[in-house]
Amino acid sequence: MDEKQLYDALPAPIAGPVRSIKARDGTVTVVADASGLDAAARQGLEAAYKDILGQLDGVAEVRVAMMADKVARRIVAVGSGKGGVGKSTLTANLAVALARMGQKVGVVDADIYGPSQPKMFAQEGQRPEAEGNKLLPVPSAHGVPVLSMGHIVEPEKAIAWRGPMAGNALGQLIDAEWGDVELLLVDLPPGTGDVQLSMIQQHKPAGAVIVSTPQDLALIDAKRAMQLFEMGKVPLLGMVENMAGYVCPHCGEVSDPFGQGGVEQAAQAMGLPFLGRIPLALEIREAGDAGTPPAAGDGPQAEAFAAIARGVLAALEQRAG
Ligand SMILES: Nc1ncnc2c1ncn2[C@@H]1O[C@H](COP(=O)(O)OP(=O)(O)O)[C@@H](O)[C@H]1O
Ligand SMILES: [Mg+2]
Repeated sequence: MDEKQLYDALPAPIAGPVRSIKARDGTVTVVADASGLDAAARQGLEAAYKDILGQLDGVAEVRVAMMADKVARRIVAVGSGKGGVGKSTLTANLAVALARMGQKVGVVDADIYGPSQPKMFAQEGQRPEAEGNKLLPVPSAHGVPVLSMGHIVEPEKAIAWRGPMAGNALGQLIDAEWGDVELLLVDLPPGTGDVQLSMIQQHKPAGAVIVSTPQDLALIDAKRAMQLFEMGKVPLLGMVENMAGYVCPHCGEVSDPFGQGGVEQAAQAMGLPFLGRIPLALEIREAGDAGTPPAAGDGPQAEAFAAIARGVLAALEQRAG
């Protein structure tokens, strides 16, 4: 199917805003200029492209990227001192919780060495298209577009990367065609390396959220990560405690493999908001592997992520004011 056939399938009023149409392996990508349209009109246009093009023979998926007027976009970095504490899990679920609250959210997975958002959002094997010299974020279920280091580099190759290359790759993800996304959550690699530095120096996050397990050692590392943000004058929006309180799936008894409450105390001692606690739960790990964020469902876990999302919005507003 060529571009002209696809274009001709669209009635004139909705063909007007189209800037490009591409088809590859059953996936059609439409880029449209939505400048001056309100949210409802944009959604209507997007739905019309999906509906009309999706009915054509050989079209399995329709992706729509809307180029918007310059939107005021804020970046929120999600960081931690150590790896494996749940940064990526929190980023994905926070994004979904915020989207459910009506926010226009996108996710950048800046973890060069261990990108995990394509998996968390069930996008493995999908590649972003490009429009001119800009990447188009990969759409996901739950209305959260995603771009990951995993989409553009192979982890084995990234190991040898030095600062400037990592910084360039991050820039490509952040300066992509994010359309009407207003809040960009950036899932950082653990620690205080080159990616964190270019994040702080070149992309000026509106705030940072720090995740830690309740363990003392994880907390010491978390504090180091926080110092880096403070030095870069990035407001700390608050701390999240992950993997606290394990509920036994058999007997219901709650145990605390990594302790509990340590992060809340640390936040208090530093005068930072404590944004919430996520229990250690088998379903959270399974949902991460399956690409079905628990925040999209209902129940106590979705509520835990929603509470953190409300806290992040409140902290952002406070810092902006
Ligand atoms: N609250 C939790 N309960 C159970 N498993 C979790 C929880 N948070 C994270 N995990 C699991 O722990 C592993 C590491 O989490 P991840 O979010 O990838 O950490 P990070 O991005 O900080 O390295 C993943 O397999 C994830 O599914
Ligand atoms: Mg991660």
